[in-house]
Amino acid sequence: MKLQNSNPTETNAWQKLRTHFSEIEAQSIQDLFHNDPKRAENFNIDWNDFYVDFSKNNWTKETINLLIELANEVGLQSAITNYFSGEKINETENRAVLHTALRANENDTVLFEGKNVIPEIFATKNKIKDFTNSITSGEAKGYSGKPFTDVVNIGIGGSDLGPAMVVEALQFYKNNLTTHFISNVDGDHVQEILKKINPETTLFVIVSKTFTTQETLTNSETVKKWFLSEKFGTTEKDIAKHFVAVSTNLQNVTNFGIASENIFPMWDWVGGRFSLWSAVGLTISLAVGYDNFNELLKGANKMDEHFKTTPFEKNIPVVLALLSIWHNNFFGAETEALIPYTQYLQKLAPYLQQGIMESNGKSIGRNGFPVNYQTGTIVWGEPGTNSQHAFFQLIHQGTKLIPTDFIGFIQPLYGEKDHHNKLMSNFFAQTEALLMGKTKEQVTSEFIKQGKTEAEVSHLIPFKVFDGNKPTNTILIEKLTPESLGALVAMYEHKIFVQGIIWNIYSYDQWGVELGKQLANTILSEIENKVVKNHDSSTAALLAKFINKNKS
Ligand code: F6P
Repeated sequence: MKLQNSNPTETNAWQKLRTHFSEIEAQSIQDLFHNDPKRAENFNIDWNDFYVDFSKNNWTKETINLLIELANEVGLQSAITNYFSGEKINETENRAVLHTALRANENDTVLFEGKNVIPEIFATKNKIKDFTNSITSGEAKGYSGKPFTDVVNIGIGGSDLGPAMVVEALQFYKNNLTTHFISNVDGDHVQEILKKINPETTLFVIVSKTFTTQETLTNSETVKKWFLSEKFGTTEKDIAKHFVAVSTNLQNVTNFGIASENIFPMWDWVGGRFSLWSAVGLTISLAVGYDNFNELLKGANKMDEHFKTTPFEKNIPVVLALLSIWHNNFFGAETEALIPYTQYLQKLAPYLQQGIMESNGKSIGRNGFPVNYQTGTIVWGEPGTNSQHAFFQLIHQGTKLIPTDFIGFIQPLYGEKDHHNKLMSNFFAQTEALLMGKTKEQVTSEFIKQGKTEAEVSHLIPFKVFDGNKPTNTILIEKLTPESLGALVAMYEHKIFVQGIIWNIYSYDQWGVELGKQLANTILSEIENKVVKNHDSSTAALLAKFINKNKS
């Protein structure tokens, strides 16, 4: 069944939301708290080890009800059914979107074109498990008979960001294998990694859904050439021990020289940016062990069940998506910040940038016409407290409205209580400061206590006053574990889905990335042949300069 096709701005709910917005736009979040002592109680979702507080936003129960009316009018519930049941909701590529099947239970049935995909998923999971165990136990050996010490993941986009983010996030659970990631086609990036590894003890995992991606193929060829260099005394037959691949393109992988038993399959119905749950996560499994990889999948599966079965008003991804639409389409907020209060999640924002912006960065509606409303938000962020000392000034006192998700954990992993209390006091303090701000009266009384003169006080007051009323969500999780991380990532995946449905766009294609790739190929041949063909005058001049300087 096709997804419903309706311009959200033409729904009854949208009209009501417009009126409602004009009524409440000017109210302050502070007033909402003053007027309702139970606001925190009424605007949160307590689920498993997640506590999501969305009270510090300029919205009311009526706003939520109207947004849910909007979700109902655009057919969100049936879209969720389509999503989980293998319908080809990625219509422009004629593909299903079934990454959720990758974390389903073994006794579940998920049909794709009438066939249950669960058995082949579990066959691949078993292959990942056996392979992981053979490497981590030291049973599998490199060409000189030594066990493996290093793993290099070669991939880009979804074939890099997910594994890199999770391996970083789950460092605490890591074994003794050292992991490296090569993604950029920048040769300096490759050389810096090669400097750190020994071919005798390194396993290369080439990840490319299509096995046609320029960056990954170039990097893989460079690494293979390095591996086969004379100084190591290696031969082609050693490749089988050191190179494995994850791909849907068996032919290209075989042509590259990888033995068929070293290929981990993936499927057309898994989008690159949602693929870390598949064999694309092989490096994760190698780094933290298969059991932890499986826990990650379990956590995501729990979030899938929550998303599928919970009424919208208590459904975390739905509520977060509706709130984001409220900020984006009514308040005109262009960006959202994502601030995890753990260094382990330093790669979460870059990871979600692909997930969110490649998915919902679309301006053509499902009707094939340009949309007349805003779609995908810009997402960015860095861990707290570092970000407090970098860009928080602008969030507090700048001219832009930046709704921010604060993600924090109740327990630290190493039990460093003193550090954790300090870290978390910043976490709570920031959302409170963003909400409450600092009034003229507070500033004045502070100045008076410091003995400042009246003239000094009145000069400085405008700069020291904080309006507050800045929207934030607080996502407080018990502990950073493979399971809670899986749930957190799945939460954002479903938020993306809900927003795409409401914005009436196709979230699972990425045609916009193609134009640059095509032009780069044309320009590459001009650089190689030292001729500049038809370009705009700026590009032509830049190319001429680059080619001339590189002539020698
Ligand atoms: O950035 C475009 C893209 O197609 C992503 O969607 C994908 O994750 C990435 O390139 C890598 O593609 P592949 O896994 O086929 O090498």
